[in-house]
Amino acid sequence: MAIISSKKQPQEPNGESKQQKESAKASPNQDLLQAEAAIDEQGKQEESIRPQRFADYIGQKDLKDVLDIAIKAAKSRGEVLDHLLLYGPPGLGKTTMAMILASEMGVNYKITSAPALERPRDIVGLLVNIKPGDILFVDEIHRLSRMTEEILYPAMEDYRLDITIGKGSSARIRSLPLSKFTLVGATTRVGALTSPLRDRFGLVQKLRFYEVDELTQIVLRTAQLLQTPITEDGATEIARRSRGTPRIANRLLKRVRDYAEVKISGEINESVAAEALQLFQVDPCGLDWTDRKMLSVIIEQFNGGPVGLETIAAATGEDTQTIEEVYEPYLMQIGYLSRTPRGRIATKAAYKHLGFTPPNEQLSLL
Ligand SMILES: Nc1ncnc2c1ncn2[C@@H]1O[C@H](COP(=O)(O)OP(=O)(O)OP(=O)(O)O)[C@@H](O)[C@H]1O
Ligand SMILES: [Mg+2]
Repeated sequence: MAIISSKKQPQEPNGESKQQKESAKASPNQDLLQAEAAIDEQGKQEESIRPQRFADYIGQKDLKDVLDIAIKAAKSRGEVLDHLLLYGPPGLGKTTMAMILASEMGVNYKITSAPALERPRDIVGLLVNIKPGDILFVDEIHRLSRMTEEILYPAMEDYRLDITIGKGSSARIRSLPLSKFTLVGATTRVGALTSPLRDRFGLVQKLRFYEVDELTQIVLRTAQLLQTPITEDGATEIARRSRGTPRIANRLLKRVRDYAEVKISGEINESVAAEALQLFQVDPCGLDWTDRKMLSVIIEQFNGGPVGLETIAAATGEDTQTIEEVYEPYLMQIGYLSRTPRGRIATKAAYKHLGFTPPNEQLSLL
């Protein structure tokens, strides 16, 4: 069972190995644009740049407003915070927010993830040890096993643990009271949650991609923590290429910092950032190999679309879920892709970004 607790030093990082991408299809630098955490990003340095308080958590204003009210209300009534479900693409700050909630509420937290709760005794062990008000953070909550989920239902609703003792006709249910706690669930796939589980969360909140100005603030903040001199223009250049994702922004900053230290030994400005990111083959809009492949298949093979999701998945070697949950939201956010009932369409902006002439402009050239 992988647990990180606020009390102890982080134990072994979540041993789950992230799905390996086919290495042949992309250049090595494409890893820079993956929103999922790399193994070396789960260590101490990542923790040192993670915001600890609400005030340091940049952007996500709607989310912060809702949670700020919930915290104040819970505190004034002396109650625990309602169970909270956070959903959204990887790297946008779900784990960070759970930790901040704990520090704002002045309680301890435990972090685990659904694949680590395979056997019923894993979740039972966590629940019985929980102290009043504690936050239990369960990552990838859509992956809970059915048995674990069923243990969670009464635990979430009535702070009660129902244990079945014995088997067959002699089986009895024994109930144990639990301390009142807050479950914070995180998922990239809210649609995959069973509805009984989803219904037990008092607060369901979506995290959205960050705007360039918000990411600029994040880069400036991280640079300060890393004691790296950087101009605002330099931070914006990094922000623009970060796919709306703080984890990617921080990762790109570290690469640019290396480049600046070795090549110029001076501060990072716009041109240094652009040079470095060009060297690392980071697209000016943060598109990675799969984004580009998706768009070029739609443009080159299907005249701009509409193209079905299955076809795009086959052409890129990604599964349809990853395309829908990781790639499409960002491409739609920057206006390169639109979804229609008949399939996906590449927009004029996508044509231009990939160096193609949009269809209506092709006609005017004739
Ligand atoms: N609002 C924010 N302000 C500043 N930094 C942020 C913010 N959100 C996230 N970060 C930074 O981005 C990194 C990734 O955030 P976090 O681990 O919370 O993402 P996540 O949503 O839990 O991702 P995953 O789905 O992969 O678990 C953190 O280390 C943190 O430093
Ligand atoms: Mg996380």
